[in-house]
Amino acid sequence: MKEWTKQYGKVYGIYEGLIKVLVVSDLDMLQELFIKKFDYFHGRKNLVLQGDVDNDDRVHVFEARGLRWKRLRALSNPTFSSSALKKIHGTVEDSALELVRLLSPQADRGAFNIHVYYQELTMDIICRIALGQRTTNFFNNPLVNFVSNLFMRSMRWPPFLFGHLIPPARPFIKWTFLKIARLFGLSGSKIYEIATDAVHLRLKQREEDSKRGIEPGEPADFIDLFIDAVSDEKIEDGSDFSKSELHITKRLTTPEIIAQCFVFLLAGFDTTANSLAYASYLLAKHPEKQKRLIQEVDEYCKGEVRSFIR
Ligand code: HEM
Repeated sequence: MKEWTKQYGKVYGIYEGLIKVLVVSDLDMLQELFIKKFDYFHGRKNLVLQGDVDNDDRVHVFEARGLRWKRLRALSNPTFSSSALKKIHGTVEDSALELVRLLSPQADRGAFNIHVYYQELTMDIICRIALGQRTTNFFNNPLVNFVSNLFMRSMRWPPFLFGHLIPPARPFIKWTFLKIARLFGLSGSKIYEIATDAVHLRLKQREEDSKRGIEPGEPADFIDLFIDAVSDEKIEDGSDFSKSELHITKRLTTPEIIAQCFVFLLAGFDTTANSLAYASYLLAKHPEKQKRLIQEVDEYCKGEVRSFIR
């Protein structure tokens, strides 16, 4: 697309199978579409086999659109509040200290690939805060491979290609693909399986606690936050997409909680690992900036250095 943009300009059209797609790189137009006209352009371009994101049971905030997105977004917002982030701070720090411990032997060994370490770090943290994993599990976590495979998958993959070429056959292609994926334990289905087990286990634990008269305490992680999330947001605000007749529920359903955990896992893993790896690479290439950063960290974090040797 980068090459085509050079060749055809800031706005041009392509076909994805039978679907017409506009590729827009004009900043003013993007501002107009995504900010001023958000009421009309509120849906992301989903994958060809995504299914019916307005009505399927298991839909997450990244694929939802319109009223459903608004509801899922309102219900997810508490997970990004500063109080929720403070609650997971200890877990993040614990995993970060484990990373420092594992990185230490590399200090005198010259160049090495830090990206794999950051992938382990981000997966470790997300598994602890969104999948119920209890302790650190560096270089022993099968999900790192499963999720990396998912990101490496080509869009020219046969089920996607057939989905583009024969739109009416999409439900059948998706159904067949899911059956095969389950049979062979392919990445996407495996991750959903793990998220499903974690959420069901937590719901069961809570049910047993409630039978024994034990009140649910403070939310320990994102699963708790999603289970407890209640939206008070008034959704009918008069804008066009809000008037659509989608079903409004103020709590997340169990399939939605599973889908939310799944998307947090995907959204938090690659983005953060890549950002950290690239930042480290740039700092290694620019020692003067690295020095400035260290000075700044030292200035703001006086007396907060904790021992990481266990
Ligand atoms: C450096 C790290 C990250 C980067 C660069 C990043 C980048 C982005 C971008 C660009 C979008 C918008 C995509 C679009 O509109 O098509 C997005 C959305 C999203 N991200 Fe991230 N992200 C990061 C970390 C995370 C983490 C750690 C989580 C969760 C644990 C997360 C969860 C989400 C979710 C749920 C959405 C969809 C929000 C919505 O539809 O309302 N992201 N991210």
